[in-house]
Amino acid sequence: MPMLDRRMFLQASAAFGGAFALGAGLAAKAGGAPDPQILTARFTEARIATGGTTPRLMTYDLSGTAGSGVPPVLRMRKGEPYAARLINRLDEPTTVHWHGLRIVNAMDGVPEMTQPYVYPGEGFDYLFTPPDAGTFWYHPHCNTLMQMGSGLTGVIVVENPEDPAFDAEIVLNLRDWRLNASGAFIAPFKPRDAARGGTYGTVRTANWQREPVYDAPAGGLVRVRIAATDVTRIYSIGLEGAAARVIALDGNPVEMPFALDRLDIGPGQRVDLALRMPENEESRATLDNFRGSSPWTIATFRAVGASLKRDLRDINPLPPNPVAEADLSTARRIPIDLTATAEQGVSTSICGTLGYTFWAINKVPWPGDTPDPVAPIEELKLGKSYVLEIANRTPHAHPIHLHGLSFRVLAANKRTVLPPPTDTILLLPDEQAQLALVADNPGDWLFHCHIIEHQKTGMAAYFRVA
Ligand code: C2O
Ligand code: CU
Repeated sequence: MPMLDRRMFLQASAAFGGAFALGAGLAAKAGGAPDPQILTARFTEARIATGGTTPRLMTYDLSGTAGSGVPPVLRMRKGEPYAARLINRLDEPTTVHWHGLRIVNAMDGVPEMTQPYVYPGEGFDYLFTPPDAGTFWYHPHCNTLMQMGSGLTGVIVVENPEDPAFDAEIVLNLRDWRLNASGAFIAPFKPRDAARGGTYGTVRTANWQREPVYDAPAGGLVRVRIAATDVTRIYSIGLEGAAARVIALDGNPVEMPFALDRLDIGPGQRVDLALRMPENEESRATLDNFRGSSPWTIATFRAVGASLKRDLRDINPLPPNPVAEADLSTARRIPIDLTATAEQGVSTSICGTLGYTFWAINKVPWPGDTPDPVAPIEELKLGKSYVLEIANRTPHAHPIHLHGLSFRVLAANKRTVLPPPTDTILLLPDEQAQLALVADNPGDWLFHCHIIEHQKTGMAAYFRVA
């Protein structure tokens, strides 16, 4: 597999001299930082397929947590510093990207661009203050298809003491696995699929289980936090047997919570639901996927105990996050075209390459995580407003993610309901959208499709904010 170039790996290892990178060392001294959570990336094994245990599963482990294989839900607080020390016990370099958190650039986890590679046996200290409350997630930004595909995708909950209280909370980390019948990993992608919608997994899970069942109080209100962390799958979720309201999308509260009917969520996206459990003990509700020809159950919620007799109207809307409002009278417009390409742009990379180029942004295919990437797609002036006029000129959907900044969808030709500010938009085939943002976070911010095969075969770029 051409995932990691051994020679480059060794060269760069030597160059970094095995140093333990203290990314946050200086900042830590300044601000009375909390003790870091020790987040170890390591191998484990778990039973995911019916036919047998999956060896060489990758996971994150917080010291002291039992290893079910599912990376821990990391809990942080809005506006309070958070620290994590990544320890790499894998056999290849890695990093952690905090998807959707608008934090300082040096903590963003993109090798070559914001931090050094973290080699096996080494570590990196992350320290940042999440400005927004909500549901986010974390994953590596190195050899990403392989590492995420092998299990390195975890959920982040940023709590806000002002959030309304629920009777229970259930976190669902949704993803697939490319496993054979006995549970071993198979090739992470097929080139012909990478050039189309992406390669699907063979086993579908929520929290690494096939159709798990969760208990919650009968007649109670549950906050269900859903993160789509798969490298390819787009879901169209719906509920049977209970009612729910959508209260947040991609970490940001929706202004007017609405009843969940069918909702599309692409790789990288999150949904927070207020779910009203069925009234009678033992009744069940299911969360289902309706995309594709035959619907299937993602997870089941089973009512337990006497009814709490709660009502969805008991829940107040979530307080908004402090996302700046773009000044549309001065905003410069930036065209962004997503296309297929016949150009070849692959270069070898310490973080792996798939060996193909299929996609481009503004005609330029991304060369990979190299010391010497292409120029930024655009330089943005710190504090200024912009409108990205993005056009998906392909017959496939692309969940497009921007690091470090949130944007608002002002208009789009394939939808009538516009989401709250977001970090990831699922652009439908041939969709065109206007995305407004304030460039209020300095640094180099990656911008890419979150179907990882698309990202790794060209559909990536970056903005420079200075
Ligand atoms: Cu969730 Cu650049 O990634
Ligand atoms: Cu894509």
